[in-house]
Amino acid sequence: MNSEDRGDRSEGETDREPDLDGPVPEEVGELETVRGGWSRRAFLGASLGALPIVSFASVGLQAARLDAAAPPRVAPRTPASAALHEVPITLHLNGQERRLTVDSRASLLDALREQVGLAGTKKGCDHGQCGACTVLVDGRRVLSCLTLAAMASGHRVTTIEGLAQGDQLHPVQAAFLQHDAFQCGYCTPGQIVSAVGLLAEGCPSDPAAIRECMSGNLCRCGAYPNIVAAVQAARGSGGRPA
Ligand code: FES
Ligand code: FES
Repeated sequence: MNSEDRGDRSEGETDREPDLDGPVPEEVGELETVRGGWSRRAFLGASLGALPIVSFASVGLQAARLDAAAPPRVAPRTPASAALHEVPITLHLNGQERRLTVDSRASLLDALREQVGLAGTKKGCDHGQCGACTVLVDGRRVLSCLTLAAMASGHRVTTIEGLAQGDQLHPVQAAFLQHDAFQCGYCTPGQIVSAVGLLAEGCPSDPAAIRECMSGNLCRCGAYPNIVAAVQAARGSGGRPA
């Protein structure tokens, strides 16, 4: 290196590379201690001493994480707390009067299936998206999973079980059989009840209109063409509203 490369380096400085692996000169060690307030020996001693604290702290953190992942603790439901929500209702269900005591928060779907034992009305999504739970309330289609049982009190409720008269199927039920309008059959009670409802709603009879009127009823098996054909046939045969 020539003198230009050295720039304004002061006299006495050399190009010698520092020996990083060599012993630390005594004066430097003292300097470290004085500047930082810590010698390396003291720092290592303090760090090793703190290890148990660190590991206890990490155990505490793990426990806190596990605690957060655990299901929330809820107060157990006592008979007294359940009784607080009970309400008496009367359903005019499939032509019969039914008196029930239901939880005020219970859906009509759960009351029908769990309390009355009418399991023909299906629970698909339980979120108002599939139509499997369709029933008629005062002749109008409703999603029973989104309807409180208490709200149906005093009203006329018709489920799939209430459509046939004895051994005689409702014309829509007969048309579904005739047109093979189902595969697994899970959506079928909702489809049939919905079709019975639309007969009373003045839905036009062309296939596009029927598809639109039935659009709230989903069929994962894709039986839609046959469902539409069945609804058209039922309308033609004078399918009666429930
Ligand atoms: Fe009610 Fe799906 S179960 S809409
Ligand atoms: Fe299977 Fe409709 S027939 S979901």
